[in-house]
Amino acid sequence: MAKLEKHLAGLSLKGLSLTEPAVLSRAARALMTTEREHIAGYDEDRLAAIIDLYVRTGIQVHPRLHGPAVLQHRPAGRSHRLRQLRGQPAVVVLRGRPAPNVVEKIMADELNRFIGWPADSFAMVTTSGGSPANLTAMLAARNDRFPGFWSEGSAAYLGRARPAIAVGDDVHYSVSRTAGVMGIGEAQIVRLPLNAAQQIDMDAVRPALDAAERRGLRVFCLVASAGTTSVGAFDPIDRLAEVARERDIWLHVDGAHGVPAGRWGSAVP
Ligand SMILES: Cc1ncc(COP(=O)(O)O)c(C=O)c1O
Repeated sequence: MAKLEKHLAGLSLKGLSLTEPAVLSRAARALMTTEREHIAGYDEDRLAAIIDLYVRTGIQVHPRLHGPAVLQHRPAGRSHRLRQLRGQPAVVVLRGRPAPNVVEKIMADELNRFIGWPADSFAMVTTSGGSPANLTAMLAARNDRFPGFWSEGSAAYLGRARPAIAVGDDVHYSVSRTAGVMGIGEAQIVRLPLNAAQQIDMDAVRPALDAAERRGLRVFCLVASAGTTSVGAFDPIDRLAEVARERDIWLHVDGAHGVPAGRWGSAVP
């Protein structure tokens, strides 16, 4: 804290000092990764060095400069964005946030080291919570299965089967809110009944998807919960994955509630 206070007190208007990505990545990895057998304990010096790295490579936030925004390529968009230099730039762009961008990659590699999947079959995006994670995963699924939706909106699908999702009846409400944000109406959410253990009832899944298709819906994503919020029930993910593969739709597992319990969530096509 003292380090950060000192840094913030001494701020002046400065540009971003860009660091070569490979150099930055090596420095961050040396500070942030450890041998698999050793769980790093709290280390004050290491933490101070990490803060130093962020401060040295980060945007110098100042009351009169909120930080550069990532500009669009079109001139009209650019002038509009110039008037809006407000929010923090995205972590996903190296130029916008060098250290967090590299750190996100390190976190992904470390998580996958734990999971053990082939490196080219694993990707990770960090979000600020469960709701944006649901939105990110479902948008990816929607854009993959309905590529015209992003550019044309729902009009692109007028007169055709309507995009829909299928969810367990006890899914967290952020999923239906997210669907609404994406232009997927309540009538396009297929609610799958639960069994006595409050998990999605596998006997009902295929018939419900068939019935939805007859109603003119095209389910592009099945949403399972790895720990429902109300009772902590885990949906039968392996069996739902079979259905998703069979019908060539996405399976999104909302693991927001259950990850600490030893399972994890993912979105797979
Ligand atoms: C299963 C599940 N999904 C999503 C969310 C939403 O997470 P957040 O509040 O971080 O947006 C919660 C929150 O409790 C949750 O339990």
